[in-house]
Amino acid sequence: MTQYVVETHDLTKIYGNGHEVRALDGVNLTVAAGELVAIVGPSGSGKSTLLNMIGALDRPTSGEVVIDGTPLSKVRNLDQFRSQTIGFVFQTHNLIPTLTGQENVEVPMYETTLSGSKRHGRAQELLRLVGLGERMHYLPALMSGGERQRVAIARALANRPSIILADELTGMLDSRTTQDILALLTQLNAQQGTTMIIVTHNHEVARATRRVITFRDGKVQSDVAIRSAYESDLLDWKSSTLGQAILQGDGVPEGLKAIVPQLREAFDKV
Ligand SMILES: Nc1ncnc2c1ncn2[C@@H]1O[C@H](COP(=O)(O)OP(=O)(O)O)[C@@H](O)[C@H]1O
Ligand SMILES: [Mg+2]
Repeated sequence: MTQYVVETHDLTKIYGNGHEVRALDGVNLTVAAGELVAIVGPSGSGKSTLLNMIGALDRPTSGEVVIDGTPLSKVRNLDQFRSQTIGFVFQTHNLIPTLTGQENVEVPMYETTLSGSKRHGRAQELLRLVGLGERMHYLPALMSGGERQRVAIARALANRPSIILADELTGMLDSRTTQDILALLTQLNAQQGTTMIIVTHNHEVARATRRVITFRDGKVQSDVAIRSAYESDLLDWKSSTLGQAILQGDGVPEGLKAIVPQLREAFDKV
């Protein structure tokens, strides 16, 4: 039996009363240990809601999330479970401005029984791992956007989580820095075997993973293991504005109309 790190069973989240938004609509997914998964899809398709449910930041309306074999609905102390099992990296890095890089990485470790010197040692080791050995004693305000994200990644790794959840983490970085952060995550995934789910609208990020799940209207539209550059190109196209226009048969430029059937057929296969 495969041990999945993440399972969702008919996961549904409805927001609001009166005007209801079905942000997630019966989502069934499994992620195995060591996978690096990209979640893509238009704005409002439910990507962040999914991460919030998997990360136990919010409760589903119905359905279940199972992490490391434990159904979240059965967990008594969610805060404790979360800090021991899940590492978050958000677009806005959420670093504490009055603490240095190293001190920020130590914050999650205060909830553990580690001694002060063990905490310092682990924080320094993690900051070296993410390539920030030199600047670990700086305040976040004196770091670049990429450096701050590195601190946030080191902090997410502090308690050796089963899974890292990253929501649009490279959204505010330039393309060079995005490449660097991406290379870092891929390297951490390969070397440490940390399972990662990365929400992104950045095709460079999606391309570097081996599995891309596309969301649409709160549902999984496609879930593809990438095997070739051709499939990767096709997925880029499919999730683009033009690709979505072609799928819906609405707003397709005149010059492309002739190849719509061919593209649709190819899209169906990824
Ligand atoms: N806290 C909330 N209250 C009400 N509606 C929300 C809330 N969070 C998200 N939504 C709605 O749920 C849908 C999915 O949102 P979200 O998961 O943020 O999508 P994505 O991350 O793919 O852009 C959207 O229609 C959004 O407006
Ligand atoms: Mg989002």
